[in-house]
Amino acid sequence: MKIVDLAFIKTIYTKRKENTHKGNYGHALLIAGSSNKMGAALIASKACLRSGVGLLTVSIPKDEKLALLTFLPEAMIHFREAITDFSVYNVVGIGPGLEQNESAQKEVYASLLKAKALVMDADALNILAINQDWFSQLPVNTILTPHPKEFDRLFGIHHSEEERRNTAAEKAKQYNCVLVLKGHQTFITNGTDSFENTTGNSGLAKGGSGDALTGIIVSFLAQNYSPIQATILGVYLHGLAADITLNSQSNESMLITDVIENIGLAFKKIQ
Ligand code: APR
Ligand code: MG
Repeated sequence: MKIVDLAFIKTIYTKRKENTHKGNYGHALLIAGSSNKMGAALIASKACLRSGVGLLTVSIPKDEKLALLTFLPEAMIHFREAITDFSVYNVVGIGPGLEQNESAQKEVYASLLKAKALVMDADALNILAINQDWFSQLPVNTILTPHPKEFDRLFGIHHSEEERRNTAAEKAKQYNCVLVLKGHQTFITNGTDSFENTTGNSGLAKGGSGDALTGIIVSFLAQNYSPIQATILGVYLHGLAADITLNSQSNESMLITDVIENIGLAFKKIQ
C-alpha cells in the first residue's frame, strides 16, 4: 500500500498552462440535490468549481433554480425533468442529496448506461446497493466513494476497517472500478494498487464533507487526470484544505464551506 503524502502528490499534480481555455478542462455534469437536500448539491458544485473544472452543469429539480443561481452564478443549470444529453459531458457525478425515489433511480440507471466517466456517491450508492445487478453495467473506471455504512450496504456487513479494505480491493478488481473507503485515513484502491491518505481531520466529521469530496474528484476527472489519479489528488486536496482551515477555525467550528474556500491555499501547497 502506498502512502499519499505531499511528495507523492507532486508527482501527480500538473500545473495549469497559461495558453489554454475552458475547453481544456472538461465539462462536468453533477446530478445532485432534491427539495430537502439542495445544500448537498450546492456544496458539491462549489467544491467542483473551486477545483478547476472548465464548465459545470448541475442537474437539479426545477423548483430549486433560485438557490443555485444565487449561490453559484458560475454553474449552468439542467432541469432534472428534461431529457439529458450525456454526450456533451466528459464526466458525470451523481448522488449527493439525490434521495432514492423512482426518478432518482432512473437518473442513476441512465448515468450507468450513458456517462463517459462516472463518480457515484451517497444516494447513488444506496440505489446501487438495492439494485445489485447494475454492478455489471458500471462504466469502466467508475469511482465509488462510500463511507463505511454505505460500503456495508453495497457489499454486506463488515466488522473492521481491515475487512472493508480487503473487500474494497477485491470488488474494485471484479468491477473494474476505483473504490474510495472514506474515513479518518481514507483508503483508495483500483484492485491492483492501494493507497492511504494522510490529510484531513475531525473537523470534517460533519454533514456535507463527503459532498465536497465528490465535487473535487469530479473536477479532476473532468480535467483528464486518470480515475485513480483524480481520486488520489481529490482525497488529498480535500483533507489538506481542511487542515489549512484549522489555522482560522477549530475542529468543532469548521464548516465545509470554510474548507471549500481554502481549496485555493491547498493548491498553492502542492504546486
Ligand atoms: N478525519 C479525516 N477525515 C474525515 C474525518 C476524520 N475524523 N471524518 C470525516 N472525514 C472525511 C471523510 O474521509 C470523507 O471524505 O469527511 C468526509 C465525510 O464524508 P461522508 O461520510 O460522506 O459524510 P457527509 O458529507 O455527511 O455525507 C453527506 O451523503 O453519505 C451521505 O447520508 C450521508 O446525507 C449524507 C450525505
Ligand atoms: Mg456522504
